[in-house]
Amino acid sequence: MSGNLAIANGTIVNETGSEQKTLIIKDGIIADILPPDADVSSVCPDAEILDAEGKYVVPGGVDGHVHFGAFTAIPQADDFASGSRAALWGGTTTVVDFAQANEGETAVGAIRRYKKMAECSMVDYSFHLSFTVDYENELKELPEIAEEGITSFKLYTYYPRIALSPADFRAVFSKIHDKGTVLVHAEEKTIIDRLKSETPGVEGDYLALSLTRPSICEQISTEDILALAKESGTKICIAHTSAKETVAIRKREAKEGNEDFLLETCPHYCVLTREKLKGEDGALYTMNPPLRGKEDADALMEALLDEDISMLSTDHCVYLSKYKKDHTSYLTVPCGVDGAQTRMLFLFSEGVLKRGMSMEAFVRLTSSNAAKFYHFYPRKGLIAVGSDADLAIFDPEGEHVFTKDDIAGAMDYSIFEGMSFKGSCACTIKGGRVVMRDGVVTAEEGSGQFLFTKV
Ligand code: URP
Ligand code: ZN
Repeated sequence: MSGNLAIANGTIVNETGSEQKTLIIKDGIIADILPPDADVSSVCPDAEILDAEGKYVVPGGVDGHVHFGAFTAIPQADDFASGSRAALWGGTTTVVDFAQANEGETAVGAIRRYKKMAECSMVDYSFHLSFTVDYENELKELPEIAEEGITSFKLYTYYPRIALSPADFRAVFSKIHDKGTVLVHAEEKTIIDRLKSETPGVEGDYLALSLTRPSICEQISTEDILALAKESGTKICIAHTSAKETVAIRKREAKEGNEDFLLETCPHYCVLTREKLKGEDGALYTMNPPLRGKEDADALMEALLDEDISMLSTDHCVYLSKYKKDHTSYLTVPCGVDGAQTRMLFLFSEGVLKRGMSMEAFVRLTSSNAAKFYHFYPRKGLIAVGSDADLAIFDPEGEHVFTKDDIAGAMDYSIFEGMSFKGSCACTIKGGRVVMRDGVVTAEEGSGQFLFTKV
């Protein structure tokens, strides 16, 4: 059990509005929301009082796309312990990872294996069940998958053993459309394969990663999958949107009133371009889909401000720089970058403080939309009586250049090194306990819990 806590003098921000209130937290839950001048010592005499004067108190972040568990055979730097430590540094208190069956393993076997892997987590967690080429058998397990508390699925159009064709998507959608939501990796495979076969892996040429996976691949794949999702009434979200054309599709769908088609993007696509792939550190900026042009980055930032994008996640999937640099060809370099630590700070600085985004939009993009899409709401993503006391306190004062010394996880570099962020995440509260203050994470490994969801 956690001790009682009161948060006084702060601006409490939800997706629908902001007010000066005093929060009373008991046993890890928001127990009361009082007027700003409430006398805490008479209402809750034993509460530790946290003064949030001049600061914003927001729901703890929900990052719907991380890879803290294993994704490839090459060891990832961050596991659930170090990855969740990085997440807490930046105000994120819930993550969704991916459970994917190995050859010969059942889907439920994979879910249980990933649950075990996540036991050291300091944040709460769930999993998307990733379908593999063995999806026909995995679909037979849907009742048991639901019993495991899993209501989100992942479908890929690329990668060995998990790439599925439009016909496969159609078959899967017809079975899962009422069992939960689906996150989709959308990159048209045949075009990429053709371009790769025509583009040899020349030492140090990482720009080839971007040129062999052009925007048209994301655009075509998104249109195909969207049509199939509409046919079956499946709610989908396109993962890590990287191209301006994908934003245009979403604008069109929104105009037609389609509420079952969402986009997710990650900070790196909004500020970095393929220029980063040139030069000796090019390997460090490799991810799929790849970085694109300035017009794409600008369109994605604008789509965040306009909320044509609904969720800011990270696709945090990190490899130490030696594993990146050891692979001198774009064909073999392990892809994936960091973001779990800086995701909320990025949007607070670049969206709210530099471009005038409202704090309510900040909450929607960093927590409440994901909490709803992945069935954690109102337990997560909301500051209300009865919700989990998972909170982040953001301070609009100050400016800080993010450096290697700030890294809270196990990585030896960050793609955000050298970026100057306005404001800071001053404090993170998880389950009613202060677990991060001024950059120092004090949570215990294993304090995070699996979030059982149902539809
Ligand atoms: O390069 C990336 N993004 N690696 C992680 C897997 C994925 O595509 O989400
Ligand atoms: Zn991913």
